[in-house]
Amino acid sequence: MRAAGRLLVTGASGFVGGNVVARAGVEWDVHAVSRRAVAGAPPGVTWHVADIGDPAALRALFEQVRPTAVIHGAAAADIDWCGRNRAEAWRVNVGITEGLAELCAAARARLVFMSTDNVFDGTGSMATEADEPNPVNFYGETKLAAERSVASIAPSYVIARLALVMGLPAFGEGNSFLGRMWTTWNEGGTVGLPDTEVRTPIDVISLSQALLHLANGPFTGVIHLPGADRVDRVTMARRIALRLGFRADQVEARTPDPSPDRSARPLDVSMSGTLATVMLRTRLLGLEAGLDRVLDEGRGGTDDHGPTRTATDPHGPPLPSS
Ligand SMILES: NC(=O)c1ccc[n+]([C@@H]2O[C@H](COP(=O)([O-])OP(=O)(O)OC[C@H]3O[C@@H](n4cnc5c(N)ncnc54)[C@H](OP(=O)(O)O)[C@@H]3O)[C@@H](O)[C@H]2O)c1
Repeated sequence: MRAAGRLLVTGASGFVGGNVVARAGVEWDVHAVSRRAVAGAPPGVTWHVADIGDPAALRALFEQVRPTAVIHGAAAADIDWCGRNRAEAWRVNVGITEGLAELCAAARARLVFMSTDNVFDGTGSMATEADEPNPVNFYGETKLAAERSVASIAPSYVIARLALVMGLPAFGEGNSFLGRMWTTWNEGGTVGLPDTEVRTPIDVISLSQALLHLANGPFTGVIHLPGADRVDRVTMARRIALRLGFRADQVEARTPDPSPDRSARPLDVSMSGTLATVMLRTRLLGLEAGLDRVLDEGRGGTDDHGPTRTATDPHGPPLPSS
């Protein structure tokens, strides 16, 4: 067995899960699970195609892998979809997490659960781990219920509340706002965003490393994983556009149309990273530094085991120089 043990990553074809798999490195014996096979998984990673929403399939996978730690990223992560498909969203976000927590408890495996800043109602600012969650949308409700299951079932657990994540998928598509914006700008389009929503975005590389560190450490409890900058979405997108060589006016402040299909969004779910800074013994990156980190990797200048993206990246134009 590798030094850090056997790691199972769920949601491995997704945006964050894929980046975790890509960065786990040689320390871990990495097992990735998704409902589909992907191209480009790093050598040395064992890729399992399974539907972990089926409890029997999840149990069989767990018995086959016998993980020492699980980083659980599989989720219905589309806020509006969750609002429209409540029973299915609950089954995926709460049901699968509960099943995994029970398996981890029985096997004494560590569970790192990816939760979200959307557990907060957005009326505060720079939320700490001591602040009371109060979700305003159904997605947030499912993630909070899953948090409570993890804390009550799994003895060795981390509830990692992720801020808005900035970066590019390691494999396939995934839920990357940066990838979607880049594609739009590259086609000459304009991105419309509300300027009322405040976030503390974190780059996906720092985030993946933090999750891997937590999977191998003694910390048990809730921890916030934000970036260092508190910023509204429009300002954030304009700063990113300029950094990528596009124009600031390719980002417009737009009030989303009220629609029964659109779930509520919390206004200010900025989070404090004080605990993370102490636990991870690292400083959190601000927006431009985080973006630089993501782009540096695109030029192959990486200090970890991440994938190398090229100038023909489907998500955008040739990568700009610093
Ligand atoms: N991206 C963000 O900004 C952000 C912010 C806060 C929290 N989070 C949390 O971080 C985690 C990862 O998010 P992400 O952005 O990487 O999302 P993503 O790109 O949409 O990936 C989600 C993954 O979940 C899996 N999944 C979805 N429905 C499933 C189902 N019915 N059964 C089994 N697996 C299913 C998918 O796996 P398949 O390959 O099997 O389809 C996919 O790989 C989620 O828990 C999300 O709530 C994300």
